[in-house]
Amino acid sequence: MNQVTVDVGCHRYPIHIDSGLIAGKNYYSPFIHSSQVLVVTNETVKPLYLPKLLSALNDYQVDVFTMPDGEAFKSFETFQSIIELLIDNQFRRNATIIALGGGVVGDISGFAAACYQRGIPFIQVPTTLLAMVDSSVGGKTAINHPRAKNMIGAFYQPEAVIADLDCLKTLPAREFAAGMAEVIKYGLIYDFALFQYLEANIDSIKSKQSEHLQTIIAQCCSIKAEVVQQDEKEKGIRGILNLGHTFGHAVEKAGNYQRFLHGEAVAIGTCMAFALAKNDGQISNEYFNRVIDLFQQYDLPTFLSDDYSVDALIETMKHDKKNKTENITLIIPLSEGAVEITERYSLDAIRNAISSRLKK
Ligand SMILES: NC(=O)c1ccc[n+]([C@@H]2O[C@H](COP(=O)([O-])OP(=O)(O)OC[C@H]3O[C@@H](n4cnc5c(N)ncnc54)[C@H](O)[C@@H]3O)[C@@H](O)[C@H]2O)c1
Ligand SMILES: [Zn+2]
Repeated sequence: MNQVTVDVGCHRYPIHIDSGLIAGKNYYSPFIHSSQVLVVTNETVKPLYLPKLLSALNDYQVDVFTMPDGEAFKSFETFQSIIELLIDNQFRRNATIIALGGGVVGDISGFAAACYQRGIPFIQVPTTLLAMVDSSVGGKTAINHPRAKNMIGAFYQPEAVIADLDCLKTLPAREFAAGMAEVIKYGLIYDFALFQYLEANIDSIKSKQSEHLQTIIAQCCSIKAEVVQQDEKEKGIRGILNLGHTFGHAVEKAGNYQRFLHGEAVAIGTCMAFALAKNDGQISNEYFNRVIDLFQQYDLPTFLSDDYSVDALIETMKHDKKNKTENITLIIPLSEGAVEITERYSLDAIRNAISSRLKK
């Protein structure tokens, strides 16, 4: 499978997944309806992949916006600079934005596309594993507020997603592992066969063999598409994509957003959610150990060091956007490849689960 289709009501779009796609004109041309194209990228990705992308766009008048690298630049200021470039260069409503980069570039470009003249077309060219399996699919776009991540955003779907597997060759190992945390997540929430595939093909996946990468990325995108199609605005089932994320966001915050990559925090957070279900007798020890083991096999952390404060983590979790009452809403495993969304766990039970994942 090298193409997945996302169909959210009135909007349908393709996700192409293969090697050698970036320079392929035909992946872009159906979605570009004027001569004006803005490519948004960052200073790390630019020298690696911009020349290839530009070679596919030589029929158009292309401007390039290059942002500094880092989550800190998914900001109002960068957003404003993108909009100013669009205004200064008289981009019209039928212009297209192309996001070339990881989730940071994708999120801010998508948000700029959603806002400029109330919405212009955009195409995602994700270059990290996380962006290929998660952030480029599903239409969530955002920038950060200085006090809260992803606080300003829109649901805005791309015209197409072009995931070129060759980009993953230059991705640092730690970033690749962080993306694998989200891949493992899809197996745990929806598709135990995917989980088993990840167990059976560890070496081939870690060595980035194209057929294996294509299989897992396409499977993750299909799952995300299926979930998003049922619940685009996250009123219900889309919430399952947040397995490990309520704990994980608290872990990210406790590390000042510097100690952990998002995927690393999600790995630790998922282990906490699994500890909660195991302590409750909801899942077996065997399943629990198998999950911890797989995270470790993919070089992901499964413990938090014991100098982190459990109370501080709980305090952050109490303020999670997903909570609908004063209780904490969590995604908890029910059985192999299935989870539930629940707010029934007491703070004591959550505290115990976190404590069991702290280590000297
Ligand atoms: N919209 C969504 O649904 C959604 C979902 C998950 C995460 N996100 C957002 O995504 C962001 C995280 O995305 P990310 O993990 O891709 O981080 P990122 O965009 O910061 O990329 C990680 C690092 O890899 C570098 N990089 C990117 N592609 C590369 C390549 N091919 N070779 C070498 N280096 C490369 C980047 O410059 C950066 O240093 C966060 O802002 C998060 O909030 C959004
Ligand atoms: Zn995530």
